[in-house]
Amino acid sequence: MRVEVARYAGICYGVERALKLAEEAAESGDAVHTLGPLIHNPQAVAALRERGVEVASTLDDVPAGTLVIRSHGVAPAIIEDARLHGLHVVDATCPHVSKAHEAAEERQAGGYTVVVGGEADHPEVEGIMAHAGGEALVVSSAAELPAKLPSRRVGVVVQTTQSLDRLTEVVEAITPRASELRVFNTICSATGKRQQSAQELGENVDVVIVVGGHNSGNTTRLVEICQAVNSRVYHVETAEDLDPTWFSGAESVGVTAGASTPDEQMQGVIRAIEAME
Ligand code: F3S
Repeated sequence: MRVEVARYAGICYGVERALKLAEEAAESGDAVHTLGPLIHNPQAVAALRERGVEVASTLDDVPAGTLVIRSHGVAPAIIEDARLHGLHVVDATCPHVSKAHEAAEERQAGGYTVVVGGEADHPEVEGIMAHAGGEALVVSSAAELPAKLPSRRVGVVVQTTQSLDRLTEVVEAITPRASELRVFNTICSATGKRQQSAQELGENVDVVIVVGGHNSGNTTRLVEICQAVNSRVYHVETAEDLDPTWFSGAESVGVTAGASTPDEQMQGVIRAIEAME
């Protein structure tokens, strides 16, 4: 059975950086909390806890020590609040997300109507909204745009994990309603490459294994993309989830993993598949 790994698979730069910063903070011996799980992967969160990194739901749950801001970023007020409470803040906001924050802030300060393409209840979008002074419009598709925009000068920013098709659709719908339109393509290229290579993998193998947390949105998206081109797609968190019957009669198996899947987790799955041969 041939095992093929997607060209772009597994943990992304922003999440890896956030993990490293949290681990470094824990090594200093300080009490370390993250605001929400640092990574959408239960095994990685458990491993962090063993190293002394706890998950807090709100700032009230963090009495002292270090607060790590995850790669999604947060509203500026949360960082200010944390500092006012005497916490040491380690800002692990992904640099790609920070660019979206800056773009939203600049357009809002320039008097533009800021339109954010993305999911309204996603923490990253909430952070971008806050950087736009809370006055931005969030739309997940062109159909959600209001008939009349608050002004004819419009700045568009997009959630880093959105597709280019979605951004294009929103921009095309705004164009006739705007006299000036500034578009910031803040989509993270790693996401598109990971999705494209998952699809190519799915088209070329008998069975696809997608590794990542069941609570990880981007891993679930990879599952959907592979399912569109392959009928034998399975989502696992670890090697223990593999079922040998899935590979019956298969000559090739493709493995891919979400942006929040640590490399050792993906490698563990690959080794377990290879051991089945
Ligand atoms: Fe950053 Fe892209 Fe990952 S935005 S957190 S590198 S998916």
